[in-house]
Amino acid sequence: MRWTCSVLTVGVLCVVGSSLFAAQDPPAKNPLEGNSDAIRGGMGLYRARCADCHGMDARGVRAPDITQVWASGRTDEGLFKTIKEGVSGTEMPANPRISDVEGWQILAYLRTLAAPAPTDPPRGNAVNGENIFRANCAGCHRVNGAGGRLGPDLSRIGVSRPREAVLLRIRRGTEDFRPGFEPVTLTPPSGPPIQGVKKNEDLFSVQIMDTRERIQGYEKDKMKSVKNDTKSAMPVFGPDRLSDSDLDDLLRYLQTLRGFDPAVVPK
Ligand code: HEC
Ligand code: HEC
Repeated sequence: MRWTCSVLTVGVLCVVGSSLFAAQDPPAKNPLEGNSDAIRGGMGLYRARCADCHGMDARGVRAPDITQVWASGRTDEGLFKTIKEGVSGTEMPANPRISDVEGWQILAYLRTLAAPAPTDPPRGNAVNGENIFRANCAGCHRVNGAGGRLGPDLSRIGVSRPREAVLLRIRRGTEDFRPGFEPVTLTPPSGPPIQGVKKNEDLFSVQIMDTRERIQGYEKDKMKSVKNDTKSAMPVFGPDRLSDSDLDDLLRYLQTLRGFDPAVVPK
């Protein structure tokens, strides 16, 4: 009986769907908002397709908190586009296999998790944070076209990662490296070991960016060893190197970094 019901529900949604979604442009407002079957369907889809990155409660893990998207001024239509098309040049994937109905179901579910914008003012002084960044971080990280290349470009860090994840990354380090930034040590037959981050690898060779930002290729059988390191090329910044209040300032500054082009963040 339950099975028949859910088949019926899907059928009804599809019929509703085909009339609602026949037009070229998506409707400006979620046609399924508040619909309990849609919310239930959206929960399943969300957990299967989105929770790994955005977290079960949508408060962000690797990817940002998306419970405040409405509070921050995003529209249903813009969010629907983000879900379908992704954010190009970032880890947010396009989802061509999510149908229009499913996209609206996911948004109907997300709406039930929506939170108001936080009321306590954010901590920290972004101007001081920028100075701290220049002194400690810019040697390895680019922001808006300036800085080092050993680490990833952080120009979008304010939208691409939740504050908590960035904080842990700075204080504790990680063993979960982004492709292109895995730490590696090559030991030649003579001379000191060569350290860097791995850009490419096949059976016979490995290409790295060394700590002087030179891209170099090496044949593996000419090396005494090629070792994937477990410690990031980025130092851990404990309280001895970076006080709690400097960390607040730095995080405040990083939260202001929202991309090269404001148009990239669609309403
Ligand atoms: C592989 C990880 C990953 C998966 C899976 C993923 N996302 Fe994302 N998502 C991201 C990242 C990273 C960003 C931030 C991109 C940026 O702007 O730099 C993002 C951004 C977003 C945004 C924009 C937030 C804003 O403030 O503008 C929304 C909305 C969103 N994702 C919803 C979803 C939904 C819904 C799903 C499931 C259908 C999903 N995401 C699946 C990684 C992911
Ligand atoms: C010696 C070079 C180096 C320095 C200095 C450095 N980083 Fe990194 N950082 C890296 C590398 C390499 C990675 C990528 C590998 C990894 O995740 O560990 C990274 C990763 C990161 C990430 C994760 C990026 C992402 O997309 O998830 C953040 C955030 C970050 N660094 C912030 C900082 C901040 C803030 C500072 C200054 C307090 C800093 N880094 C100093 C090399 C550095």
